[in-house]
Amino acid sequence: MMLTDQFQRPLHDLRISVTDRCNFRCPYCMPAEIFHERYEFLSRHELLSFEEIVRLTAIIVGFGAFKVRITGGEPLLRRGIHELIRQVSRIAGVEDLTMTTNAFLLPQHAESLRAAGLQRITISLDSLDEAVFQAMNGVGARVAQVMAGIAAAQAAGFQPIKINCVVQRGVNDHTLVDLARYGIEQGLIVRFIEYMDVGTMNGWRMDDVVPAQEIVSRIHEALPLEPITRNYTAETALRFRYRDGAGEIGVIASVTQPFCGACSRLRLSAKGELFTCLFANTGTDIRSLLRDGSTDEEIRGFLADLWGGREDRYSEIRHELTEPLEDKVEMYHIGG
Ligand code: GTP
Ligand code: 5AD
Ligand code: SF4
Ligand code: SF4
Repeated sequence: MMLTDQFQRPLHDLRISVTDRCNFRCPYCMPAEIFHERYEFLSRHELLSFEEIVRLTAIIVGFGAFKVRITGGEPLLRRGIHELIRQVSRIAGVEDLTMTTNAFLLPQHAESLRAAGLQRITISLDSLDEAVFQAMNGVGARVAQVMAGIAAAQAAGFQPIKINCVVQRGVNDHTLVDLARYGIEQGLIVRFIEYMDVGTMNGWRMDDVVPAQEIVSRIHEALPLEPITRNYTAETALRFRYRDGAGEIGVIASVTQPFCGACSRLRLSAKGELFTCLFANTGTDIRSLLRDGSTDEEIRGFLADLWGGREDRYSEIRHELTEPLEDKVEMYHIGG
């Protein structure tokens, strides 16, 4: 049975956060002042077990979802992650199994992830400038360490590899062309993301956003580009290719050109809450149903009601709101 929401949007993607922990402290996501040594992350029994994740994923795939993305926090910090990948990859109907990671731990994991059935990988890397990157990861991680992760992913056979770069005005926007060049050299699809007002802690202001149009024209000046069509209607990125055939980039214009109209994404947090929007303020607890003996049929009914009632389109209505929303879910709970 296929589900559609209040705007006839199907459920095609499931994004699973497997941990709320991260080894980076990107100020726009987990500022170090708040996420210090004594910060209490979720404990083991609060996290969904692999068994619970796999059961729920199979049910959701049964409703027509075919893309699954594993995120965090940093997903490689979840113990036994390969085993989860292996189990999810075996669910009939999962056609695209991917992960978003900061790549710091990828050198030790790339090969076994690939062997476990992970199909694609997206790596976050905001700048190749050492000082800029260190400020943006908050823990002094070096560019070379992420590059080692990228090399490991290439060696393991992941193709294509995408790079996510969150663009913040005055922070890394002077380093975008360098990153684009590196993408060409390495055969990576670099995706520049408009900085978004997710969560409540990053002090987002519209002035910090570099609009996609400006990102594209700055790169185009150095490396001529032309637009190409989306791969699929719900794709987040606008695509451009280099005129000389050197490859492609993506631009995710969630602020200036929202794409809620085709949004088919459901997000599952590490502690078992479902979010029907990146900007939702509350999740819907599904963990208790997984733990109270509810049958698959009962869980299906619950999910059908949740998706059927979905009306979210935050990015499209942001400009109509007079006050910023309070209590939005934090990015490290749902992994972007
Ligand atoms: P592909 O499957 O390769 O097309 O990747 P994707 O674009 O679905 O996934 P990815 O996690 O790489 O998304 C890139 C970024 O786009 C995320 O980190 C978010 O910043 C943003 N993004 C993804 N989904 C949504 C969404 O539903 N709404 C908004 N506003 N932004 C999103
Ligand atoms: N705006 C846009 N993208 C963000 N990400 C994290 N916080 C934000 C934000 N405020 C990105 C990360 C990562 C992905 C999961 O989400 O850089 O690539
Ligand atoms: Fe960690 Fe990613 Fe958040 Fe940075 S954006 S703190 S790498 S989860
Ligand atoms: Fe989907 Fe919400 Fe993002 Fe719109 S703002 S694209 S509804 S997650």
